Amino acid sequence: MNKAQYESLIPKPVFLEKRGGVCSLTPESKICVQAGSTWALQAAEYLAGRLRPLTGLPLPVEEAAQAFEPGCIYFTAQGAGTELGEEGYQLSTEEGCLIIRARGFAGFFYGCQTLRQLLPPAEGPWEIPGVFIEDYPRFPWRGSMLDVARSFFTVDEVKRLLDLLAAYKLNRLHLHLSDDQGWRIMIDSWPNLALHGGSGAVEGGRAGFFTKAEYQELAAYAQSRAITLVPEIDLPGHTNAALASYPELNRDGVAPGLYRGMKVGFSTLAAEKEITYKFVSDVLGELAALTPGPYLHVGGDEAHSTEDEEYRLFMGRVQDIVAELGKTLVGWDEIIQAGLRPGDLVQIWRKDTRPREAVRQGAKLIMSPCTRVYLDMKYGPETELGQDWAALIEVEDAYSWDPVSVYPDVGEEDVLGVEAPLWTETIHNLGDMEYMLFPRLLGVAEIGWSPRQGRSWEEYRLRLAAHGPRLRAAGVNFYRSGQVPWEER
Ligand code: ACM
Repeated sequence: MNKAQYESLIPKPVFLEKRGGVCSLTPESKICVQAGSTWALQAAEYLAGRLRPLTGLPLPVEEAAQAFEPGCIYFTAQGAGTELGEEGYQLSTEEGCLIIRARGFAGFFYGCQTLRQLLPPAEGPWEIPGVFIEDYPRFPWRGSMLDVARSFFTVDEVKRLLDLLAAYKLNRLHLHLSDDQGWRIMIDSWPNLALHGGSGAVEGGRAGFFTKAEYQELAAYAQSRAITLVPEIDLPGHTNAALASYPELNRDGVAPGLYRGMKVGFSTLAAEKEITYKFVSDVLGELAALTPGPYLHVGGDEAHSTEDEEYRLFMGRVQDIVAELGKTLVGWDEIIQAGLRPGDLVQIWRKDTRPREAVRQGAKLIMSPCTRVYLDMKYGPETELGQDWAALIEVEDAYSWDPVSVYPDVGEEDVLGVEAPLWTETIHNLGDMEYMLFPRLLGVAEIGWSPRQGRSWEEYRLRLAAHGPRLRAAGVNFYRSGQVPWEER
């Protein structure tokens, strides 16, 4: 039997109570907004843009002082308590009207996402069952990462991904913009990075780069969906595309060719050359000016061709540069060995790493354990796409873990959140990207949002089953895992 919509929400809300009555959307229904609230208005316009094509209803957006009418949706900050925070919301049906209360844009926006899941996926009647929901996230960092460096993805494809992330209340998209195989962002002071480095890709992958205007377009689109972009320039290893674009960055002054293989750890910037720091400073400076978010991810992983002493020297200079730019530094967990500064963010990915050491130095942790949420890993031995060096990760494996207990000696307050990377050595188009992310990413979204208490795979898999028709209606190419009793509706 199919579950009622309110029983199938992902992520599971903090508090939900079934109430009597129903809010029915009709040709007379309006979306009303408390006068003067630009955040509410922005969310209301977004909702109308989603619901009009789905329902065929006109759903005009209007400012309104108060008066609720049956069948209307009302956005207001009145009655939204501080416990909701910036991202929380209250959603309730009252006398046939549906009311979303929140304190900021993200809260209103997430109320809209819950409302969308309370409606049927594709066909009316457009009725919202009587409910009272109060909801806010466990962690502030709930993300995914797309490696556009091995294989490039277009602006439209990244927008599509942003829409899918937003539907499940994920709020970070980390873009891995450079690696050995390609460089994907125009830097005006070093144009060959994009013009030459951008012409490379992994074997079978796609080349290309974002212009600055395109990156800004993506950042604005992300913001309109309550998502912050986190740009990464991977340093000092994973830099062959840069080294191939400028001979002067190389120790021997000779540029290597572009690289299309899958090996890691062979390239490094020269920590002893002063031009290296001009390069890093120019690149990060332009990127910082371009990105509205507070974060700069500087990589730091798998620098196997960089001596330990050079690595420490290099990362110290990079930390100075990021600090001068007024941004927050993010790095893969190898940067723990370089010495961290309070406020740095460390992305934990390796099995054998020391998160406690990062915390002791004043850093916060983003949990991306490769055995759980590296979503380029195969689901099972028969999965054609993806890799298996970290693990095989079925849907249950990606869900049944917790960011606080996955490594020893880590506390709730040390963890900023969770992020699921998608590396693209074998993933070269939108359909393949969706197949690897979905449905595992829904589990990651729930891990990042919902209270730990009460989470169970047996209960989750039944809710997930109800998202088959939703994903299908959205045209998502998802993996029909045999672990999930998919609903056919
Ligand atoms: C990584 O997987 N090299 C961060």
